Amino acid sequence: MLRKLSLTALAAALVASGAAFAQEDHGEEGESHSAAGDHSAYIENYSFSFEGPFGSYDEDQLLRGLQVYTEVCSACHGLRYVPIRTLSDEGGPNMPEDQVRAYIEQNGLEVWDPALRDYRPATPNDNFPMSSLANAPDLSLMAKARVGGADYIASLLTHYTGEEMEQAGSIYYENETYGGYLAMQPPLSDGYVEFQDGSPNDLHHAAQDVAAFLMWAAEPHMMARKAMGFTAVLMLGLLSVLLYLTNKRIWAPIKARVKDQTPAE
Ligand code: HEC
Repeated sequence: MLRKLSLTALAAALVASGAAFAQEDHGEEGESHSAAGDHSAYIENYSFSFEGPFGSYDEDQLLRGLQVYTEVCSACHGLRYVPIRTLSDEGGPNMPEDQVRAYIEQNGLEVWDPALRDYRPATPNDNFPMSSLANAPDLSLMAKARVGGADYIASLLTHYTGEEMEQAGSIYYENETYGGYLAMQPPLSDGYVEFQDGSPNDLHHAAQDVAAFLMWAAEPHMMARKAMGFTAVLMLGLLSVLLYLTNKRIWAPIKARVKDQTPAE
């Protein structure tokens, strides 16, 4: 009975660890298909610091990504579900609070205040502004909303084919990752953004930096979730060992008795 129990506990531990690690798998497809178009969509597999069961966000990369977002993407896209103060979060960009305030001021971030019925300067407690271009989707949850996550975003920015198409007065741009034509012109190019830390600012690096930042925006507590999953696996493992030992101990006298009574051959 107890042996069965310990086996069950072991199985539970294995299932739990499977589940905990399976969650990390997104973003490692290498190549997968998106629902966006009917063409076969290509998603490049990048190596991000936050992948794997022990991966974590790279603070410097998040800060570079914030810079790309601010200087390029925010012209059209918003991050309306992300509180600005979370830029100070540990495990995130970890920006000192005074720098967050300076960031707001330097970039003139404003939010709509329904009470004033006007825009006012943002405070750290406000969320990032919403998209300023009506047809540009909000990016707060984009990294979770697309198959491939951060890989999808970095891939999207780097896989324009150069083909354009005009339809009803608007221009559409062909993109392999999108799997068709989309209304966003290539927003980034080599050397477009200048990083203060002198990091490479070619298209591929800048695209990965902003993709990492958007992954953090969509899932700021990824590290905590991973730590919790790991603790759960550890506890279940410990429990199985304890159950196994208890089982042995309880049956030991009975086993010894049975052994004594078996006639020697
Ligand atoms: C000039 C305005 C503009 C800029 C700048 C811009 N975008 Fe876009 N973006 C758009 C529009 C418009 C769409 C909607 C395209 C469509 O659905 O056809 C879009 C769509 C997207 C999508 C969703 C694609 C999909 O799968 O549906 C992502 C992701 C994205 N943009 C990321 C970015 C990032 C990251 C940056 C900054 C590096 C950026 N964009 C800069 C206008 C812009």
